[in-house]
Amino acid sequence: MISPHGGRLVKRVDFSEKRIEEAKDLKKKEINLDKYRDLANIAHGLFSPLEGYMDNNNFEAVLKDGRLDNDIPWTVPIVMDAVEEEVSELREGDDIALSYNGEPVGILEISDIYRYDKGKYVRSVFGTDSMEHPGVQRVFSMGDYLLGGKITLLKDPPTQFPRYRLWPEDTRVLFREKGWKKVVGFQTRNTPHIGHEYVQKAALTLVDGLLINPLIGKKKKGDFRDEVIIKAYEALFENYYPKNTATMSIIETEMRYAGPKEAIFHAIMRKNLGCTHFIVGRDHAGVGNFYGPFDAHKIFSDYPDLGIEPIFFRSFYYCKKCRAVVNDKICPHQDSEYQINFSGTKIRQLLMEGKRPPEDMMRPEVADAILSFENPLVD
Ligand code: ADX
Repeated sequence: MISPHGGRLVKRVDFSEKRIEEAKDLKKKEINLDKYRDLANIAHGLFSPLEGYMDNNNFEAVLKDGRLDNDIPWTVPIVMDAVEEEVSELREGDDIALSYNGEPVGILEISDIYRYDKGKYVRSVFGTDSMEHPGVQRVFSMGDYLLGGKITLLKDPPTQFPRYRLWPEDTRVLFREKGWKKVVGFQTRNTPHIGHEYVQKAALTLVDGLLINPLIGKKKKGDFRDEVIIKAYEALFENYYPKNTATMSIIETEMRYAGPKEAIFHAIMRKNLGCTHFIVGRDHAGVGNFYGPFDAHKIFSDYPDLGIEPIFFRSFYYCKKCRAVVNDKICPHQDSEYQINFSGTKIRQLLMEGKRPPEDMMRPEVADAILSFENPLVD
């Protein structure tokens, strides 16, 4: 089995009554569901080797080098922000309770309280400081301080999809039981079109197992809702995937839309789940025109020590001459009159009009699953 990132799966969980009671006497900081999910992700080892929120040294190293202070690859800050009024009451060395709906759900041992430069943050992570970028907007809405330190999780966050919530120790057992030595992970924030299916099946041809791993959590307006993504994949699985070589679990964290930097972060999470390979296609984790279609391929050459193998794909499209789903590596008909692209925008448009997209673009069972929702998109 592939080693977790940094060599060891982090486990920082204490569900004992005693610890929960103790936490009730601590100063409280209320967190939202996105933050709570990432608290659990740290505690259950999905973000190994992180044991808590980044201190100033690690934060600065991530922005400057795309690595932690100890040189381990890491590209996206995992931080706990705070506002001036909160910070004025806190000291380094304090333990505080992180609460959700008023109830303590975690403990943060504060080792560092620091200010940070939001402009530097967004230019490093998103490659832009444009307020048109949803990730940039998010950072500029954060508090001006960050709290670094180790955490302990006291209670798992609620989930809409309990049967698909598998932590790294669960997926690792699952892969072992299935006898999969080489496993490819597939990140997605979308309902599946035929292009996605080709990417997944082409990759699966090379390995023992496929983990479809939709990202559940905060997304931008116009993206598909979480429950729609899951239902659409269930329809795809039921009709088009072999049970002995493909499975699905979710990752509960927000989309950052950080393109190449997020592709590395996505790969690290899948390595912790036990995947040996990770699919990176066209405009991975991109938004608008902020990244080139294959920028997320190029960044992997900076990380020969990542420890999970990327499988790169060019854009899949339907070629009328080949009468097949192809990409520019395998199709000689480069004239755009023969090509039908899997355009997410076009597919969404048709679905919003209550129409099934053509079968060359989307499986009818998947389209029907999406159409069964009155409002399939985030508003
Ligand atoms: S993402 O934000 O999670 O990357 P999406 O769910 O659309 O968005 O994509 C999931 C994965 O499929 C990414 O690796 C992406 O690059 C890849 N992908 C999506 N469409 C295509 C396509 N037509 N050809 C090749 N790869 C694709």
